[in-house]
Amino acid sequence: MPPRKRIGDILLENGFITEAQLQVALEEQKKTGELLGSILFGLGFISQKALFKVLSATQQDSRDAPGREDPGQEVPEEIDYLVQQSSAIFQKNADLHKAELDSPHSPLVNLVEKILINGIRRGATDVHINPDVKGVRIRYRVDGVLHHGMFLPSKLLNPVVSRIKVMGRMNIAETRVPQDGGAEFFYKNRGLDLRISSFPVLGGENIVIRILDKSQVLVGLESLGFLDDDIDRINEALALPYGMILVTGPTGSGKTTTLYSFLSMINSVSRNMFTIEDPVEYHLTLARQAQVNVKAGLTFATGLRSILRQDPDVILVGEMRDSETAELAVRAALTGHLVFSTLHTNDAVSTIVRLTDIGIDPFLVSSTLDTIVAQRLARVLCPQCKEPLLEDDPAYRAIGADQKNQVLYRSTGCRSCDNSGFKGRTVIYEILKVDRRIRELINSRASIDDIRNAAIENGFRGMSEIGLKKVRQGITTLEEVRSIVRTAL
Ligand SMILES: Nc1ncnc2c1ncn2[C@@H]1O[C@H](COP(=O)(O)OP(=O)(O)OP(=O)(O)O)[C@@H](O)[C@H]1O
Ligand SMILES: [Mg+2]
Ligand SMILES: [Zn+2]
Repeated sequence: MPPRKRIGDILLENGFITEAQLQVALEEQKKTGELLGSILFGLGFISQKALFKVLSATQQDSRDAPGREDPGQEVPEEIDYLVQQSSAIFQKNADLHKAELDSPHSPLVNLVEKILINGIRRGATDVHINPDVKGVRIRYRVDGVLHHGMFLPSKLLNPVVSRIKVMGRMNIAETRVPQDGGAEFFYKNRGLDLRISSFPVLGGENIVIRILDKSQVLVGLESLGFLDDDIDRINEALALPYGMILVTGPTGSGKTTTLYSFLSMINSVSRNMFTIEDPVEYHLTLARQAQVNVKAGLTFATGLRSILRQDPDVILVGEMRDSETAELAVRAALTGHLVFSTLHTNDAVSTIVRLTDIGIDPFLVSSTLDTIVAQRLARVLCPQCKEPLLEDDPAYRAIGADQKNQVLYRSTGCRSCDNSGFKGRTVIYEILKVDRRIRELINSRASIDDIRNAAIENGFRGMSEIGLKKVRQGITTLEEVRSIVRTAL
C-alpha cells in the first residue's frame, strides 16, 4: 500500500472534490498521463489556491482543512477598535469618500469584513443588518434560526450600508427603492457568493446578505442525512436514461442542495447536462447552466424550450412554478430526457395530485414520473452539550421507545453551538417511487389517500418515520421533528 496519501484522496477527504469528480479526473489521467492536480485544475474542479494549499499542507494534519470551524466568536476588542475608528471618521465628515468605502486600509471596510466573517464562522446562511431605534442590529441566521450579533452605533448605519452596496455594485445614492446586488467574498480559501438585498424601512435601509458557500454544496447524500437504503434507491433512479425526478418541500427545506448533490453524482463527460435556474446558485462543472432573466424574455418555459434544441441528456429545471413549465418538463421526460425539478408541495403523494390539478394529463404524469423526494430540515443536537432525557420523560412513551435500551436526548447549549443546543441540520424526508400500482392509480385519478395507502403497502415510509428514527438515534429531538412534520406524532 502507498506509504503516503495520494493527492486525490486528500482532496476528496477534505471536501474539495467529489468522488464523481475524482473518477472523471482519474479517467482523464489514464488517457493523458498528466499530474492529477493539474487535471483537476484544468477541469475546473478545484481552484489553484486550494490546490496549492493542499500540496503545501500534505505534511500537516487536516485541521487546516476548510470547513465549518469552531465559532471562536467575535474578538470584541478588535471590533470595538474598528467601530471607534469608523465612528471617528464619520463624526467629522458626513460625506463618504471613496477611499473610506473601498480601500483595504479603511476601518469601515474592515468592520464590514468582520461582520461577514463572524457570520461565516458561525455557519450563517444570512447576515441581517437592521436599523433599530438605538443603533444598528446585526443578526445571523444559523440552521434556520436568527441569532444576535453585534450592535453598532446609529451613525454607522449609512456608512456600513454604503460599503455593502459598493461591494454589491449597487447604487449608493439611491436609498428609497429596494435593490439587489452580488459579490464574491474570499475567506480561508473558500470563494463565497454573496447575494445582497436592500429594502428601505423606517430609520434607513435594511440589508440582508445571503451567503452561498459553493464548497459546501457538492457533498454526498450521506452527509446531507440520507440513510443508506434510501441512497441505494436514489442511485437506482439516477441511473435511469430518462424520466422525471422531483424534490419537493417548502422554501429553505434543502431542495436545491439535494438536487445539486444528485446532479454531481451523474455529472459526467458523457452526458450533456443543462440547467435553467432562478438564480444559478452553484457552479456545476461540466454542466451548462442558464439563469432565468424575465426582463430579457428568458423564463423557465422559454429556456426549457431552447434547451431541448441543444441535444440535452439531463435537464434541471429550477422550479415548476407554472403549468406551462410543468407541461414542458413532463414532455421533455417523455421524449427521452432525465429531468430534475422542484415543487413547493408538502409531501410526496400530494405532488402527484398537484401535477394533475394544474392540468397535466394523468397519463403523462404516470408515464414520466419516477421518484419524488419530499423533504424538510431538522436541527441536529449539538454533540458537545446534548444531555440524556430523564427516564420518565413523556418523549419515550410518545415514540414507543424503551428507555432501558434507548437514550433520547435534549438540547442544552454551550459555547460551541452558540447556546442554541443545536449544530447543523439534517434532512427529514420521504421517497416515493412511482411503481406500476401507483401508475395505475394516477391514470384512474385516484385520491391522495388511495395513492398513499397503496404506497405504504409497498413499503413507503413517511417523513415522520425517518424523523423518529433520527430521534431514536439521538441526532435530533422529538420537538424538532414535531415542529417540521405536520402529521401528528
Ligand atoms: N441536508 C442538509 N443538511 C444540512 N444543511 C442543509 C441540507 N440541505 C440544505 N442545507 C442548507 O439549508 C439551506 C437551504 O438549502 P437550499 O437552498 O437547498 O433550500 P431550498 O429548498 O432550495 O430553498 P428555496 O426554496 O429558497 O430554493 C442552505 O444553507 C443549505 O446549505
Ligand atoms: Mg432552491
Ligand atoms: Zn452545544
